Formats: sequence, C-alpha cells, structure tokens
Amino acid sequence: MKKVIVTGAGGYVGIPLCQALLSKDYQVIALDRYFFGTDKLTSISSHPNLTVVREDIRYCDTAIFKDAYAVFDLAGLSNDATAEIDPALTVSINYKGSERFAREAKKGGVQRYIYASSASVYGAGAKGSLRETDSLSPQTEYAKSKVAIETVLHELADDNFSPVMMRNATIFGLAPRMRFDLAINIMTLRAWKERVIYIMGGGEQWRPFVHVNDVVRAFMLMLESPKDLIHDQIFNVGSSELNYQIKQLAQFVIDVIPNVVIHTIPDDPDKRTYNVNFEKIQSVLDYRTTIQIHEGIVEIKQALEKGLLNGDDPTCYTLQWYNSLITWHNRIKELSYNDTIL
Ligand SMILES: NC(=O)c1ccc[n+]([C@@H]2O[C@H](COP(=O)([O-])OP(=O)(O)OC[C@H]3O[C@@H](n4cnc5c(N)ncnc54)[C@H](O)[C@@H]3O)[C@@H](O)[C@H]2O)c1
Repeated sequence: MKKVIVTGAGGYVGIPLCQALLSKDYQVIALDRYFFGTDKLTSISSHPNLTVVREDIRYCDTAIFKDAYAVFDLAGLSNDATAEIDPALTVSINYKGSERFAREAKKGGVQRYIYASSASVYGAGAKGSLRETDSLSPQTEYAKSKVAIETVLHELADDNFSPVMMRNATIFGLAPRMRFDLAINIMTLRAWKERVIYIMGGGEQWRPFVHVNDVVRAFMLMLESPKDLIHDQIFNVGSSELNYQIKQLAQFVIDVIPNVVIHTIPDDPDKRTYNVNFEKIQSVLDYRTTIQIHEGIVEIKQALEKGLLNGDDPTCYTLQWYNSLITWHNRIKELSYNDTIL
C-alpha cells in the first residue's frame, strides 16, 4: 500500500481528496492545522488507512516523510483576500512553509510532489485563452506565493523528485468543509436564502470554474499517471467550456432558483480577470471535466433544503473565520490568568 501525505487535508478540497485516496487503498497521512475543525472529517475519521496529524507545514517533524511516495501540497491561506490579512503571514505559510515542506519531502525520499497552484497566477490576463506558457500577472500576495512555489518546485525537479503544478480554476460545489466565499457557492446561498444575487465589479471579469470532485479526479491523475507525462509540468485544471464572466453566473443560478433580484456593484478592489485554456491537460492526460455549473448549484440548493448545509456556519467564510481566530487569540492572551480564563 502506497503512503501519501495530504497537507491541507481538513480543507474544502483536502477532505474529498482524502476520501478518494482511501477508496483506492492508499495509506493517507492527513496533515493540517484543522483551522476549520476536525468534525468535518467524520465520513473518513475511523478509516484504518487514515492517520490524522494536527501539525503545521512550517514546523512539523520531517520523520513524516519516511516511506512516503507522494505529497499533495494543499495547505495554506487559500484565497487572495485571506492572504492579504498580513503579507508577512502569507510569506511565512504559503511561501516559506510550502518551500520548506517541498525541500524536506525531497530530502525524505518523496518521489512525486503535487502542488495546488491556482489560475489566479494569470491575474489581470492581457488576452483570452491563457495557456501554461503565457506570461503571468499575479495581482495579490496569494498569487505571488503560488508563482514563487512553482519556481521552487521547478528548481527541485530531478530524476528522483517529480513535482507537478496544478493551476486550478475557481472551484464550486458541495464538500464537507464548505466554502461560501467562492463565487458560485455564495451566489447560490444568497439566492436561496435571501432571494438576491450580488455581482461584484460590474460582472465583466472572466474566470474559469471547475467542480470540486473534478479537481479531485485531476489530483488523482497527477498521482497515477506515468512519470514522464507529469514530471516538472504545469497544468491548468478545468475546462475551456467553463470560462464565464461573473455576470453570466447569475443566470445559471436564476435557472435553478428563480425570482431573485440581481444587484450589480460596479466597484471591486479585485481586478483579476482571466480566461484560461485547458487543452494541455486534455491532450496530455486525457482529462475532461464531468460536472456542469448548474449541477453544482442544484446540489448546494438541495443540501440547503435538506438542512445538510448551514449558510450561517462561520467556518464557511475563510477570511472572516481567520480574522475571528486572530481576534479571539488576542482576547484570550489578554484575559488569561495563570494559563486559564475563569
Ligand atoms: N478553492 C479554490 O477555488 C481553489 C482554487 C485554486 C487553488 N486552490 C488551492 O487549493 C488548496 C486547497 O484549497 P481549499 O479551497 O481546500 O482551501 P481550505 O482553506 O479549505 O484548505 C486549506 C487548509 O490548509 C490548512 N492550513 C492553513 N495553514 C496551515 C499550516 N500552516 N499548516 C498546516 N495546515 C494549514 C487549513 O487548516 C485548511 O484546512 C489551496 O492551496 C488553495 O490555494 C483552491
């Protein structure tokens, strides 16, 4: 049984990825700080091939790499807004932390290193249909950290260490650690709950989208494809047919949840717009996405209707949740007495 390490295993993508790996008989080391709670792991927590490790990628013991075949690097501040809380933190976690983890993994004998990069690296894309070889225009600390780690991994590649960089489109769909800070997910929630859709920045901006389960399939493909197809390669992960302007998403939502008022907010500090080409992953790895946007909207709506999802769960909002954790931490430091509160 091959041992694999998943960092960020308690996250939106991490949990479904662990589920997929366990269903294919991998031994999974699920490393995460579990900022969003371990309760979301219930579907897999008692699996005999799963080891849950509450650790930090910046400091964890490197003995973890012993006998590991592959690493999936998903840990970190996971969107542009969160990575702006404090640029020094983003450097520490997303850049220095991931760099350390990759270098130690290589030293520890890991053969395959699968990195969750982002299509956000294209930033304010000057042209449409952006390919892996096109120039990058990262607009945020988040995107800059992704570019930096791609570069580090490229330098580390050799006969015994095969990094592969996945530039994932913006993800949508249902998962145990739900994220309502992603465009399709939040539009669906607001439409269902408040009968309103907000379109930020005028809605003209382009984004590629991909369902969370299709991303997991891509991760599995990076693990199981022959080395010569993935070695030191960058892949855009998504589908050329799933590039949309933000304003177009509203129509998808209204088709599933009618009688909704649309508010278009002209200004948005987020200046990113990118339309991405996904021919490489299709031609090299024979990968095609399988889940359409309306299917993701339907599954979220149904989960809300059945009470399986709670739009008020604060852990679903990444930026706000991290800000709350920081505030509570400061408050507890201020109030604690003899290492306790009361
Ligand atoms: N969700 C998307 O739309 C999307 C798109 C492109 C790329 N990505 C990338 O995919 C990866 C996973 O994204 P996600 O949506 O699952 O995010 P997520 O926030 O749900 O998961 C990230 C996980 O990393 C953990 N973490 C944070 N700092 C850590 C540290 N120092 N040590 C150990 N664990 C730490 C958190 O506890 C969390 O569980 C991220 O790298 C993200 O940048 C996501």
